[in-house]
Amino acid sequence: MGSDVRLEIKPLTGSCGAEVFGLDISQYLSDSTVSDIRRALLDYGVIFFREQNLTPETHRAFTKNFGDLVSNPVYAHVEGYPDIMPVIKEAGDKYVIGDTWHTDMSYMEVPPLGSLLYAREVPEYGGDTLFANMYLAYEMLSDTLKEMLQGRKAYHSDRYLTSRVAERNVGRSTQLRTDIEHKERLALHPIVRTHDETGKKCLYVNFPFTWSIEGMSREESLPLLTQLYAHASRPEFTCRFRWRKGSLAFWDNRCAMHYACDDYQGKRREMHRTTIAGTRPR
Ligand code: SIN
Repeated sequence: MGSDVRLEIKPLTGSCGAEVFGLDISQYLSDSTVSDIRRALLDYGVIFFREQNLTPETHRAFTKNFGDLVSNPVYAHVEGYPDIMPVIKEAGDKYVIGDTWHTDMSYMEVPPLGSLLYAREVPEYGGDTLFANMYLAYEMLSDTLKEMLQGRKAYHSDRYLTSRVAERNVGRSTQLRTDIEHKERLALHPIVRTHDETGKKCLYVNFPFTWSIEGMSREESLPLLTQLYAHASRPEFTCRFRWRKGSLAFWDNRCAMHYACDDYQGKRREMHRTTIAGTRPR
């Protein structure tokens, strides 16, 4: 069972992202295959599998190869699967989630290692997801700014999502939870994060969740943060993935941001997302 397979890996761009061929991820995978996939994730920041056929059970089982599953604390779950989050846009919806450059759940003290997004139904075109390499974003800063940021921390909050739940849920099928009272989640993280597996430094701030730099007001923080967001999403640092039904994207949340492109008004898109427990940023 689960004999070793040789993965074929095709990089998508010069900055990040690679497609991985030769694998049915609904099957049992040997330790060495799992370790090859993990290596590809570390090398490319986000990896993609095509023509998969996953049930919620096999999606969970594949995810578990890489760590414990975590439930999203703010969004509703697929019924019967607390650790699967539906990401759905109905044809009549006006809005989606994720249409800003962001890092999943960075408002948690221990944000997730990564997420695995599986396409159950996608429009013929539109609805791509973009990813940005935050190692490159860090490397390409001037040495002076790198020195200024070194050792500094920033507050991350979920208030962008949860301070106005009812308002955000209108016109959008991916619903914030209304069955709980949301208390602000706030975490303090280094602005320059050292990846716990690669040991490389990356920029770790994002538009919806980073609130302010420690020791500075939000007003004082915003000019610098805004400049960092603009820098981090330069096209040179990104890749763009065109979905087909059965595609799966697996991103490393520690060193990649992503952006859901909402350019498919009037069409339906349905995804399932699992998330893997991470480590405290340092
Ligand atoms: C997300 O931010 O996880 C959603 C991405 C997408 O829908 O493409």
